[in-house]
Amino acid sequence: MSRVHHFPKGFLWGVSTASYQIEGAAHEDGKGESIWDAYTHTPGKVINNENGDVAADHYHLWRQDIALMKDLGYRTYRFSIAWPRILPAGTGKMNEPGLVFYDHLVDGLLEAGITPVVTLYHWDLPVALSGGWLNRATADAFVEYTDVVTRRLGDRVKMWTTLNEPFCASFSSYAFGYHAPGEKNLAHALQAGHHLLLAHGLAVPVIRANVPLARVSIVVNPAPTIPASSSVLDREACRFQDGLTNRWLLDPLFGRDYPQDMRADFTRMGVWQDLPSYIKPGDMQVISVPLDLLGVNYYSRHIVAGDPDHPDQPELSHGVMPPDAQKTDFGWEVYPQGFYDLLAWLKQTYSPKSMFIAENGVSYGDGPDASGAVHDLRRMDFLRSHLVTLAHAIADGIPVEGYFHWSFLDNFEWAAGFSQRFGLIYTDYATRKRYPKDSAYLYQQIIAANSVSE
Ligand code: GCO
Repeated sequence: MSRVHHFPKGFLWGVSTASYQIEGAAHEDGKGESIWDAYTHTPGKVINNENGDVAADHYHLWRQDIALMKDLGYRTYRFSIAWPRILPAGTGKMNEPGLVFYDHLVDGLLEAGITPVVTLYHWDLPVALSGGWLNRATADAFVEYTDVVTRRLGDRVKMWTTLNEPFCASFSSYAFGYHAPGEKNLAHALQAGHHLLLAHGLAVPVIRANVPLARVSIVVNPAPTIPASSSVLDREACRFQDGLTNRWLLDPLFGRDYPQDMRADFTRMGVWQDLPSYIKPGDMQVISVPLDLLGVNYYSRHIVAGDPDHPDQPELSHGVMPPDAQKTDFGWEVYPQGFYDLLAWLKQTYSPKSMFIAENGVSYGDGPDASGAVHDLRRMDFLRSHLVTLAHAIADGIPVEGYFHWSFLDNFEWAAGFSQRFGLIYTDYATRKRYPKDSAYLYQQIIAANSVSE
């Protein structure tokens, strides 16, 4: 017999997207250029040199998308605002048509009974901000942008997220080189990360001042990180990876400064001195401003092994995949237990007041059959198993008040272009037609019942 797991009354059920991944209309209505526009138009950066110029064409099809959300009973929608639509040069002159677009979107959602949740920054930085996140002035520009947007939408939008995944916006973008602007310089990633955290910390009070009853969050993507064995080599590699992916940005957000062990590693690696000149007095206090909520993205776990030839360099580690792992089309391990482990670790380590799952989802390429149905059984299993795990976590006292599936519809997956499909809705990129997948209907039932069956 199947067991039914109930969610708390009032639990927030939603879907997530991001501006550059779905909107298209890259050059319309006065929008400025973003670092992702520039990056995707640099040959060799994205699979098949694809770009988000059109993406899912949500900028034109938003009414239809809202209608689809409503039909499917999705009650909350997390989307991001494209900064270059609002302030095309990053600061200064405001672009009214950009604000009008989000005005209409918010009104349309509210009319459909769907609660909007806004992310201010999901990586599409105006290219005009020279130096990008390496420049402290970008944090001030973010505050200006936040002020404009929250003044305009704050009467109707109450849930605000400053940044999505500062880890990706710093390390993936400035150290690993596969996100815009595509640098490979660890010292720069640390500097960019500091300015991102600062931008967040400076923006939170501005949101609170402009939005009565605001609930403010940041969205992070920590991953449960475990050593491949109990050897000192693997445990050291694990400590470093956990420090880099999880603690480096979370510790300062929760008032603990940058972690000491990582500072020692970064000093040894020549990318950090105590104190780097870009950290100014008072910054750490600004960064640790109390939050109403912590947004958490969960996709998979990391198993880490050290390099036996370089035992003193835990940074030279590699990821390990269990031989029997079930993998997504992206090659990520499906591991629902990691969802529980991560939330339990966050609660124990940082005691956030409350959390919401801002993203959880999976890439599988299933497409429509002759009748237009999409039988994405593996996504249905993923959804069920992760929600059962989440229900356990909540029953065990971990404070999670909402779940947003990534993603509402298939979209532009950054450096992977259109090769990975995370949507509950299939997007036909040639016709822009949407096809709800079977998982979209399963999610509809789960939301209606406020419970999931094992
Ligand atoms: C992220 C982003 C999303 C991605 C999703 C799948 O987590 O990288 O927030 O924009 O599309 O996570 O990789």
